[in-house]
Amino acid sequence: MARDGAVYVCQVCGAAQAKWAGQCPACNAWNSLVEEVQSRPPGALAPARGSKQQRGLAFETLQQETPAPPRLSTGVEEFDRVCGGGVVPGSAILLGGDPGVGKSTLLLQVCASAANAGLACAYISGEEAVDQIRGRAARMGLAAAPVKLAAETALRDILEGLKKDRFDLVVIDSIQTLWSDAHEAGPGSVTQVRAAAGELVRFAKKRGVAVVLVGHVTKDCQIAGPRVIEHMVDAVLSFEGERGYPFRVLRGVKNRFGATDEIGVFEMGDAGLAEVRNPSALFLNSTGERAAGAAVFAGIEGSRPVLVEFQALVAPSAYGTPRRAVVGWDSGRLAMVLAVLEARCGLGFGNRDVYLNVAGGLRISEPAADLAAAAALASSALEEALPQDCVVFGEVSLSGDVRPVSRMDSRLKESAKLGFRRVLGPNGIEPAGDIALAGVTRLADAVKRIGEQSWGAKA
Ligand code: TYD
Ligand code: MG
Repeated sequence: MARDGAVYVCQVCGAAQAKWAGQCPACNAWNSLVEEVQSRPPGALAPARGSKQQRGLAFETLQQETPAPPRLSTGVEEFDRVCGGGVVPGSAILLGGDPGVGKSTLLLQVCASAANAGLACAYISGEEAVDQIRGRAARMGLAAAPVKLAAETALRDILEGLKKDRFDLVVIDSIQTLWSDAHEAGPGSVTQVRAAAGELVRFAKKRGVAVVLVGHVTKDCQIAGPRVIEHMVDAVLSFEGERGYPFRVLRGVKNRFGATDEIGVFEMGDAGLAEVRNPSALFLNSTGERAAGAAVFAGIEGSRPVLVEFQALVAPSAYGTPRRAVVGWDSGRLAMVLAVLEARCGLGFGNRDVYLNVAGGLRISEPAADLAAAAALASSALEEALPQDCVVFGEVSLSGDVRPVSRMDSRLKESAKLGFRRVLGPNGIEPAGDIALAGVTRLADAVKRIGEQSWGAKA
């Protein structure tokens, strides 16, 4: 039986149970329930404070003028943009990402840049010693920045220390290393992570300090532990990158003060992360002829158009069950596009392996990429290359129709800027400038154009 006020909290999913069990009934993880003592029974309200007259709600109207939240610019533009145009004082931001992707590097740079711009910044690490951080800063040429450094994991000491000074921006690296003496559970447990985040969010709101919490992510792309604090913070950013590629993408997952579809692109080098102002040029492999199986997708990431290359390989399968492997795109969507190509365009993939890769390590989630993936697959299956100067976009429906997508003018403009002269896309787009449109209404028409190499007159 549970002790009075004790609940058992799953360290994987955060679900609370009244009784201990070997397996969590919510997420089926084994040995993940840990006892957590609550000061009052679940659901009970805290004893009322203040007199009866003081309590109650003061309602307001929606009409009232509210000034836009002030923004602090850190000077790292890609970071500021993903935050919605700078960090908001008093807000809490969670930065998630795989270990080693560059979270500490990014935030050290953000701190240094903000400190150089006159903001009071603190960088508190529970993972590295001060000497290590200093060494890294020196390598990145940031040693002169007036950032206050500390290596500490005890939450109480951190909060006491922070209260003694005035700060604009505080970085805590990472939330999983923090440890609060008010709880028995070990550092990194859901209990500790939640308690520490709660305290720090409260500190941020009360003092008007922007607090950035680092959280490590597990392999299945879930922020382990920190997932349970996503609802507490104002913004959740995720820092992504494929191993072996220098590109890193900062993506907004949740943002109470801005749009969530913004991305910031960085390149990891010897001197830390460099901001990439023109991602398209970086993601496109512009040297040489485009081979069969490659199609350049004119995509939109946040507010910016980004051109990336889809690469497909369709090869005879050596085994009974053909392989389908995809990097940078959704495997469910690949299955759908393959099915449409088979059923509506007469291309057979039944006994062939299919590989699809988005070059540069970017992850594409737009439906507008359907036609680019289909074009790459058809191009590989038919062994006919797309023209060197052709971009592709369009949504493909199960019936085999090619549908218009959002912001086609921005896609065309970016393509024209990078020297593309043709578009394989949905019919009825207004061609911009000197870009010629190879418009299609059916996927079968697109496949036919690729097979017959009929692209119309070059503009
Ligand atoms: P780090 O910021 O420590 O990752 P995280 O905090 O997300 O765990 O980044 C570590 C990686 O970045 C490491 O593999 C080395 C690489 N790196 C560079 O390539 N150049 C640099 O200037 C720095 C500081 C790191
Ligand atoms: Mg780190």
